[in-house]
Amino acid sequence: MTKKVSDNSRRQFLGGVAATAGVAAASSFVPTKFAIAGKAPVKVGILLPYSGTYAMLGNSITNAMKMRLEQAGGMLGGRPIKYIGVDSEMSVPKAAPNTKKLIDKEKVDFLVGPVHSGIAAAMAKIVGKRKTPIMIVPNAGSNAVTGPLCAPNIFRCSFSNWQPAFPGGKLMADEGHKTAITISWKYGAGIQMMAAGTESFEANGGKVIKDIQVPFPKVEFQAFLSDIAALKPDAVFAFFSGGGAVKFVKDYAAAGLKENIPLYGPGFLTEGVSAAQGAAAEGIKTTLHYSADLDNAANQKFRTDYTKAYGKGPNVFSVQGFDTASLMLQAAAAVQGDMGATGDVITAMENAVFLDSPRGQWKMSKAHNPIQNIYLRQVQGGKQKLLGIAAEALEDPAKGCKLA
Ligand code: BEZ
Repeated sequence: MTKKVSDNSRRQFLGGVAATAGVAAASSFVPTKFAIAGKAPVKVGILLPYSGTYAMLGNSITNAMKMRLEQAGGMLGGRPIKYIGVDSEMSVPKAAPNTKKLIDKEKVDFLVGPVHSGIAAAMAKIVGKRKTPIMIVPNAGSNAVTGPLCAPNIFRCSFSNWQPAFPGGKLMADEGHKTAITISWKYGAGIQMMAAGTESFEANGGKVIKDIQVPFPKVEFQAFLSDIAALKPDAVFAFFSGGGAVKFVKDYAAAGLKENIPLYGPGFLTEGVSAAQGAAAEGIKTTLHYSADLDNAANQKFRTDYTKAYGKGPNVFSVQGFDTASLMLQAAAAVQGDMGATGDVITAMENAVFLDSPRGQWKMSKAHNPIQNIYLRQVQGGKQKLLGIAAEALEDPAKGCKLA
């Protein structure tokens, strides 16, 4: 009968092996398989988009995550790192096979991904039924991932779709708007963000008169913009991101709507793309868990380091990648690289502290989602300008999560 080794005794055992391996190497014995295993890399599987409308998001996350790990010496818990990257192609049908390949064939310790909410739900359905690997979501906001699909080995370093959108609805009402149209891509992220914005807009006296859903990832907006012009709402609340956000904001201005019907939305609408949107983005107010001009030392260092490394400034997606790396570093250090000690890895991740986060300090909720400030920003001179805090230490309601 095999004896179950507790996480702690397992670590003592591996620690002993590592010490023995050091002696063996010093006295030029042939290293044992344990000594070799002691140096085996921690495998980090990455399932992110590197093509299509969200390619910028995938690259921003990956760059910052690797930068943070390099800054920590390129090791996790004293072991080197092996990255196994897969382009998600934003394909929901490919999500399950890609996930299974990374788990069963590549045997990854950490699974980092995705950007897209539909892919996140598909991945969580697989990962949550197993003890390993540890999944860290560096973007996708699917409410379900830290709601009904939450699991001990699933963590998120970004946001739930509810979080940045809910304060945005109240903002529109506070600015005196009585009617609004919501417009987004028709899939989990857009649907959930528009629902959250609608909920708070209507709770504060507004009325959403139409919800427009555009097939993902289509960017032909003309017919929808004509509808908006005809219905004349006081405001429009929109979710688009990456290449699609560039096109939507430019088309909105070109259709002559910008001056008469102010555009709002979760900050993805202008994040990382305001330079490409140019004058069309000027003045747009959004709510998000980051603003480029946040006045904290960690943000200043992060922006300087990232710009030096990649020749362009970071964005919220890079912040999420950076914090994903911080979480992996803390987890692996807590178990001295023994990623098999799953219970202790999870405990370390639940108690992780993000002192060096560019978004400001935050902590994990019981459902494994960030409890964080949501900032009010406005595009001014092509840059995000922080106007204030729209919601302080906002925690997702995590409806349906049984972890608490
Ligand atoms: C999502 O699919 O969850 C998502 C994609 C881009 C930006 C924000 C959320």
